[in-house]
Amino acid sequence: MKTLKFKNGDSFPSLGLGTWLARPNEVYDAVLEAIRCGYRHIDCAYIYKNEVEVGMALNYAFSYGIVKREEMFITSKLWNCDHHPDRIENAIQRSLSNLQLKKLDLYLMHWPIAFKAGIDVPEGGEDLLPLDEMPLSETWLGMERLKRKGLTEHIGVSNFNIPKLRKLIADTRIRPEVNQVELHPFLQQDELLDYCRKEKILATAYSPLGGRRMANLEDGLLQNQLLRALAEKHACTPSQVILAWGMQRGCSVIPKSVNPERIRENLAALRVKLDAEDMAQIKKLDRNLRMAKADFAVFPNGPYTYQSIWED
Ligand SMILES: NC(=O)c1ccc[n+]([C@@H]2O[C@H](COP(=O)([O-])OP(=O)(O)OC[C@H]3O[C@@H](n4cnc5c(N)ncnc54)[C@H](OP(=O)(O)O)[C@@H]3O)[C@@H](O)[C@H]2O)c1
Repeated sequence: MKTLKFKNGDSFPSLGLGTWLARPNEVYDAVLEAIRCGYRHIDCAYIYKNEVEVGMALNYAFSYGIVKREEMFITSKLWNCDHHPDRIENAIQRSLSNLQLKKLDLYLMHWPIAFKAGIDVPEGGEDLLPLDEMPLSETWLGMERLKRKGLTEHIGVSNFNIPKLRKLIADTRIRPEVNQVELHPFLQQDELLDYCRKEKILATAYSPLGGRRMANLEDGLLQNQLLRALAEKHACTPSQVILAWGMQRGCSVIPKSVNPERIRENLAALRVKLDAEDMAQIKKLDRNLRMAKADFAVFPNGPYTYQSIWED
């Protein structure tokens, strides 16, 4: 498995399995299939509501010697209703218990957005907490404590833009080790990647294939003419071109699939090598097309707007 490196020398697999929207009855088989064919990174989150089944699959794989715990890299995420420092340790303990693990490899603050305690999915602005009441830096100090306590090896954030990363770095002691954000050829985010590289923050591309909603677009990524032509040139599939492109930019990619053929197809992207001309052509596809806009947190009577989430 190709890997990126953390500052302490730990390896971070360049390709992992996403689990969002993998139904509980599907994700068990998907995780085992992925491990059997060579995946060593599983991307999870409390809010995906399938950690228990991921944990059962991991436990099976460890118990039957399919893979060793230390060979796997497991990520989970702190949900927005658990940002208060008093709730953070309980939140990671719940994910650890779901996943049947003693320690995570990586724990991420899922969004730079806070909900009131106990709210999984807000129904209106009254369910949200503004960031001046629940500052990201206070949540981050709670994340730092988890690392010191040995509950997670690495800590990071997700969906953070440059101003939010800059402020977090200025206000706290340990900088995020990873920023997991939406990245694909239609949303390339060069400036954010350059900033992360400069600050030694590893970047993970979520929705690396554009996500499930992209599939409904007539001119979606997988139908794109250039990507199809490059797939023909390299005797591979458009998905493999897209994932190889993501990894060649220095990111880790976490495509989700519950389909055994597509799970293997995505892993085989590790063998695809794009040349400089291919990379230059894909660069021209950028449309700044964001699929995950955080609609779930934007209400007319709430403290968050698209601008406050993505631009401020
Ligand atoms: N941090 C965050 O806020 C955040 C947000 C979104 C996602 N994520 C993480 O990133 C992971 C990946 O993102 P995503 O699930 O949004 O999108 P994605 O991986 O870009 O796309 C997943 C969709 O593409 C299909 N697919 C997978 N491989 C394919 C292939 N080779 N050919 C054709 N279709 C294929 C999947 O269907 P099948 O399952 O039927 O194959 C599914 O509908 C998530 O699962 C989650 O772990 C994190």
